[in-house]
Amino acid sequence: MQAVIGGSGLYALNPEFRIDRSHMRDTPYGEISAELKIGELNGQRIVFLARHGESHQIPPHRINYRANLWALQHLGVESIIAVNAVGGIDAPPKSLVIPDQIIDYSSNREQSFFDADKGEAGHVDFTYPYSETLRKRIIAAGQSSDIELTQSGTYGCTNGPRFETRAEIQKMQRDGCSIIGMTGMPEACLARELDMDYASIALVVNWCAGIKDSILDMEQITKTLDQGMKTVLRLINTLLAQNDR
Ligand code: HPA
Repeated sequence: MQAVIGGSGLYALNPEFRIDRSHMRDTPYGEISAELKIGELNGQRIVFLARHGESHQIPPHRINYRANLWALQHLGVESIIAVNAVGGIDAPPKSLVIPDQIIDYSSNREQSFFDADKGEAGHVDFTYPYSETLRKRIIAAGQSSDIELTQSGTYGCTNGPRFETRAEIQKMQRDGCSIIGMTGMPEACLARELDMDYASIALVVNWCAGIKDSILDMEQITKTLDQGMKTVLRLINTLLAQNDR
């Protein structure tokens, strides 16, 4: 089964997504962000999870990433399409980026299932943090539905919930980041620890702080988010229609 984790601006899937079951909130790691919606889209069994909760009540640094990922795996999910709203350093607002690398600047987040209390010191390979198979499928779906995608990019994950300073963005630019978000980690590495395929569709909703002259305009961000998510939904729809996992 496949899952879609919706980020800011994406709290439900298309109306064609027929939900036949909602599922539990509690896990050994605590509560998940929202009820898991399980149903069918284009003949595929899909689980949808709203990362920030159904009314965007959970900020990025308070999301229980471990509970979310554990619950998805428990349901039998094998691959996850994550949707992330991001700022762009070299990708303009409204563009869609399928990142292939991550730099993690977040802190104080529970970022592993291999915890001391489990008595297990595990390590996973994370050289390529996203599933190349899944990334290729997203890129193919973009091509077949005429949706322009930037096929690679480095996702820098900050802690939030505040946006960054200009100097922080300049530093991350020097590090090689092309987009900046607050929710890419530890989600991606937790998926890897649980052996689930994971890739992200990142929607750029603003230029990062200081890239252009003006400061960030929240109203404009919301507008870009609402418009852009319609394209993201169309992309997901195409992807799931083509899909075999
Ligand atoms: N920075 C971090 N996270 C974000 C941004 C940003 O500029 N825009 C949307 N999410």
